[in-house]
Amino acid sequence: MRSIVQNKVEECLEILRWDRTRWLEFWKSQRKRYGPLIPGYEERLELNDEKIKEILWSIERRTLDRFKWEWLDVSRNKKIECAEALSEREKSLELHREDFSVFLMALLGIEDWVVVDGEKEKVVLIDVFSLWKKGLLRELSIVALEAARSFRMGKDRGSYEGKKVFFEELLRDVEKILEGGKGSLQRLCEYLRERVPYYDWVGFYFVENEELVLGPFVGEPTVHTKIPFGMGICGQAAERKVTFVVQDVSKETNYLSCSPKTKAEIVVPIFKGGEIVGELDIDSHALAPFSEEDRRFLEKVCELVAKVL
Ligand code: SME
Repeated sequence: MRSIVQNKVEECLEILRWDRTRWLEFWKSQRKRYGPLIPGYEERLELNDEKIKEILWSIERRTLDRFKWEWLDVSRNKKIECAEALSEREKSLELHREDFSVFLMALLGIEDWVVVDGEKEKVVLIDVFSLWKKGLLRELSIVALEAARSFRMGKDRGSYEGKKVFFEELLRDVEKILEGGKGSLQRLCEYLRERVPYYDWVGFYFVENEELVLGPFVGEPTVHTKIPFGMGICGQAAERKVTFVVQDVSKETNYLSCSPKTKAEIVVPIFKGGEIVGELDIDSHALAPFSEEDRRFLEKVCELVAKVL
């Protein structure tokens, strides 16, 4: 299978081997190296040599050095996360058309992604340097998925403003989906998995006689279709009536494994009239992927779900 995501960041960082006064020259050499990609990027962002020189001049060497070390630290994982985020959603992204690739690059740090013509196919250029400047490198897999989705929607550039804004948009869609009532919970599971790259198994459990009974879900089938209160992460969350975030399931002793691929899990109770009536359970193949924003977002989702139960 062709590899949909290519990492060119280290190649771009060869600029650090050049004296700063010659950075524009390095940039010009990149135009030759990447065929139509760099000219396409310049055209899309309406750049000329003078503007490029100005932008390059505003970047300090030590800033690029810091970026380089942080990138080298995470690059392998990040590339894999991005590739998986896309390939696991191959149907909705229509990857069989083989009409686009994603290149991770370090460009001028002025736009998060830009779509340009490649030799054979379109190329979504993600400027990892731009994300790093905003402190959003950790969220690169969301950006890769957002960029690919926006390409499919016909857009040719875009930016990502972090999980807060991202989840606000998702919440608006969740409200719409739930207009379909209780019957829309399957669709809701699919939607959450589709939009958040590290939500790999998404499902509901409902309380019946001090037991959690599996409801709609998406992801690998599970043997845990009935879970007594107190057992596993789901059972503990039900017993204590609180959200449980486990960033590394290998460190949790009271845990029921659904898949060897699962590395982290979040379980959010659903309350109705002060009583726990169910839970939203999400497993992730990524380690420690959940932040406070995930918790807040999913707790809001559960408040909305409670209204249709
Ligand atoms: N891991 C859960 C069981 C449910 S599966 O993740 C779908 C637990 O420990 O309760």
